[in-house]
Amino acid sequence: MATNFAKAARGINAAGLAAGLEHVSKSFVSPAGQQLVLDDISLDVAPGEFVTILGASGCGKSTLLNLVAGLDQPTTGSINTPGGRPALMFQEHALFPWLTAGKNIELALRLRGVPKSERHTEAKRLLELVRLGGAHGKRVHELSGGMRQRVAMARALAQDSDLLLMDEPFAAVDAITRDVLHGELTRIWEETNLSVLFVTHNVREAVRLAQRVVLLSSRPGRIAKEWTVDIPQPRRIEDSAVAELSLEITEHLRREIRRHGQH
Ligand SMILES: Nc1ncnc2c1ncn2[C@@H]1O[C@H](COP(=O)(O)OP(=O)(O)O)[C@@H](O)[C@H]1O
Ligand SMILES: [Mg+2]
Repeated sequence: MATNFAKAARGINAAGLAAGLEHVSKSFVSPAGQQLVLDDISLDVAPGEFVTILGASGCGKSTLLNLVAGLDQPTTGSINTPGGRPALMFQEHALFPWLTAGKNIELALRLRGVPKSERHTEAKRLLELVRLGGAHGKRVHELSGGMRQRVAMARALAQDSDLLLMDEPFAAVDAITRDVLHGELTRIWEETNLSVLFVTHNVREAVRLAQRVVLLSSRPGRIAKEWTVDIPQPRRIEDSAVAELSLEITEHLRREIRRHGQH
């Protein structure tokens, strides 16, 4: 299944990088003056790697992801995504409510240039990949929050990008559903060998999912510390190894927040 998502088919970047950020800074100009939001961020994401960016609210995570997505330009530094335009998934599902789940995905396929005759079958395949095989004809309002996020995930996968950018995609769903979606995302990541750059303020979520956790400081956002997560998948959020590393990272995050508070 999903051969077009298989690592072999992604060979062009197999030896290279999914994303490369070099000395990226971003400032916004407001009436109060210039605000430095991101300061000197250098980060590489390898093909097939799962990296989480962890940081407190307002530290610049969404700004960073928008830059990698190409929705905004860095003030200084450079960003490279050799595989082309990354796919994006946000906290809000941003599905079109007047379309069915299937048609939302088919629209993404159309934008990618998939011929009309193939879109229906491909949309069904993608819905099956997120375990929503029966939802093709369902309208968005008929779906639960968790199901909507699954459709949003299928739509992001429909872009057939090498790199998936996720901005707190599960922050608005309940804990049990989030747990299930973590499992699904891990499975899909393993099956497809996508590179994932996942942003969250939730330490346990970061450790549950990632091969590497990158902690951002606040105001400005800088890379404060990085951890490699060696815990074998599938992990559970309540695993003692996940809890232990989360505790260590939380200590560092607290320090960052305290440090910021003293400014
Ligand atoms: N387009 C913008 N114009 C001005 N300020 C912005 C803009 N986007 C983000 N910011 C500011 O950048 C900071 C970081 O925001 P954001 O990246 O959304 O943080 P996070 O996603 O970590 O919560 C905030 O202080 C926010 O007000
Ligand atoms: Mg954000």
